[in-house]
Amino acid sequence: MSDMYRHNLLSKKTGYEPVFIFTRELFHDKIKSRKLQVGFMKLTLMYFSPTHTTKKIVSAIGKTFFEKMLCEVRIADLTFLAKRMHEYSFTQEDVLVIGVPVYGGRIPLVVKSFLSTVSGNGAKAAAVAVYGNRDYDDALLELYDTLTERGFTVCAAGAFIGQHSYSDKVGAGRPDVDDLLAAGTFALAAYEKVMAAKPVAKQIRGNRPYKEYAPSILQQRTAPIENADACIQCGKCIEVCPVCNLDAGSHDGGKCIGCAACVKFCPVGARSFRDANIAKVKAWLEENCRARKTPEFFI
Ligand SMILES: Cc1cc2nc3c(=O)[nH]c(=O)nc-3n(C[C@H](O)[C@H](O)[C@H](O)COP(=O)(O)O)c2cc1C
Ligand code: SF4
Ligand code: SF4
Repeated sequence: MSDMYRHNLLSKKTGYEPVFIFTRELFHDKIKSRKLQVGFMKLTLMYFSPTHTTKKIVSAIGKTFFEKMLCEVRIADLTFLAKRMHEYSFTQEDVLVIGVPVYGGRIPLVVKSFLSTVSGNGAKAAAVAVYGNRDYDDALLELYDTLTERGFTVCAAGAFIGQHSYSDKVGAGRPDVDDLLAAGTFALAAYEKVMAAKPVAKQIRGNRPYKEYAPSILQQRTAPIENADACIQCGKCIEVCPVCNLDAGSHDGGKCIGCAACVKFCPVGARSFRDANIAKVKAWLEENCRARKTPEFFI
């Protein structure tokens, strides 16, 4: 096995992505020159991110954490059902950076049920909610509470903005360069808190009890419809669906969570929402939520 890096061949078993795990050997000189006490900490980046904006923010935060920690890094992409079926258990040596998108001002139901299976065991966490420039309401507070209940010490929390899943005019192109710079700033402050094992000191915005899940989030949705004439049968929509709602015949399996991944990633634009409710939400967002919002940190 190379002394530069080793491949995480166990990823299929553990639920982590097959990423390169950077070893202490690779950074030996750096570690020595900086007199770092790296110890045996591990950094885990975890996210649910059907349209990839949350993934971008968590990756930017993770990059800064890694540059500071120079340790083993694991990635758990919870977007895929198979990854959410693994059990994840952490230790006091672990640092978790976790990001979720905001759905109806709450954390997505699939993430909520997944998190009830995770054990923190005293690991330190930085919690991130990514919302589509409307509001994150109670989602960040809910993520903080859920992680705390699961045994994590949550040292930092941040709300960031991503392009809205339903409109390319709302939060257009975000996260952008300024957002990624903000993610780096957040990470530096969060890293200090994690190393000191200090929980979040600032009151996280949000209310308890959390707002009710909107009926549109709770009820069964109709999957975005495919335009058979335009479809080139590439299978991308099936691949990206986080609940495996579509099959090879593109039938609606009745489990659609309205995440918009199949719409966004279809290479020929053959999928679209025909749901009147989503069309109304889209129009309302474009009318009311175009003014730029900025990231907020609770550290
Ligand atoms: C079902 C659903 C509900 C959403 N609810 C909200 C919301 O309450 N507030 C908001 O600002 N954005 C909302 N959004 C937008 C997403 O939070 C936003 O686009 C986020 O960047 C998507 O993350 P992803 O790219 O990682 O999938 C919602 C998106 C979906 C699909
Ligand atoms: S079918 Fe529904 S859940 Fe699956 S990718 Fe499309 S919008 Fe998301
Ligand atoms: S991603 Fe688009 S083109 Fe590919 S199979 Fe799905 S609907 Fe057809």
